Amino acid sequence: MEGFTVWFTGLPSSGKSTLAGLLSDALRRRGLAVELLDGDEVRTVLTRGLGFSREDRDENIRRIAWVAKVLTRNGVVAITAAISPYRAARDHARQAIGRFVEVYVACPVEVCIQRDVKGLYARALRGEIEQFTGVSDPYEEPLQPEVVVRTDVESPEEGLQRIVGHLERGGFLAPGMTNVRVPTYLVEQLRRVWGDGAFEARLGEALAAQAAAVEEPLHEAEREEVLARLRSLGYVD
Ligand code: ADX
Repeated sequence: MEGFTVWFTGLPSSGKSTLAGLLSDALRRRGLAVELLDGDEVRTVLTRGLGFSREDRDENIRRIAWVAKVLTRNGVVAITAAISPYRAARDHARQAIGRFVEVYVACPVEVCIQRDVKGLYARALRGEIEQFTGVSDPYEEPLQPEVVVRTDVESPEEGLQRIVGHLERGGFLAPGMTNVRVPTYLVEQLRRVWGDGAFEARLGEALAAQAAAVEEPLHEAEREEVLARLRSLGYVD
């Protein structure tokens, strides 16, 4: 399978890490190899020592983009979650990586300030942190992102569903399966193995992963034959 990169961008406290975490969990449950490159973690290793000048941020993004490119060409789904405030750096990443989906995590700065997950907006507003994105440093909105998630009005799950929907429509992911009937004996067995809680979600994802694993799509006639057989057994409508 070919990999791809989902590139989250947005202000501090806009919800990038939350969405990126949900997306990586969902894709892993579909059986994909996923690597999450979160700005905060990356800055402790790969880009340790870099600051927040434009040059340092560009260097941070260049290194993240390089890792994402290497992962992508080796069949991994790379998910990045860094502010990545400069359009030119993001566009460079897009060109270098190719299979690239930009997700703009949009949220008014007032709302981000209220959330202030790490208390850094308060410190920046008191003048204790210089060049803080959204307060004293620029954030350049994407002009044509593939997906915009508005985290002030959408729940994380809604945002996640829209991102997954886009990946399915764009052919990056096999479509999730709906309206599939599963025989009772199998349901009971799976409930025992998986536990009741996540049953529905995991079944859907397991079926989708299986669909993704079919490398050669069936010819129309074969597909009809299989469907007819499943229909006669009462498994599909
Ligand atoms: S980026 O601009 O280079 O993409 P990145 O996402 O890696 O930024 O790091 C942002 C994180 O660094 C923020 O979540 C915050 O915790 C911390 N940080 C510290 N100083 C700043 C600053 N001046 N501007 C933005 N974030 C900062």
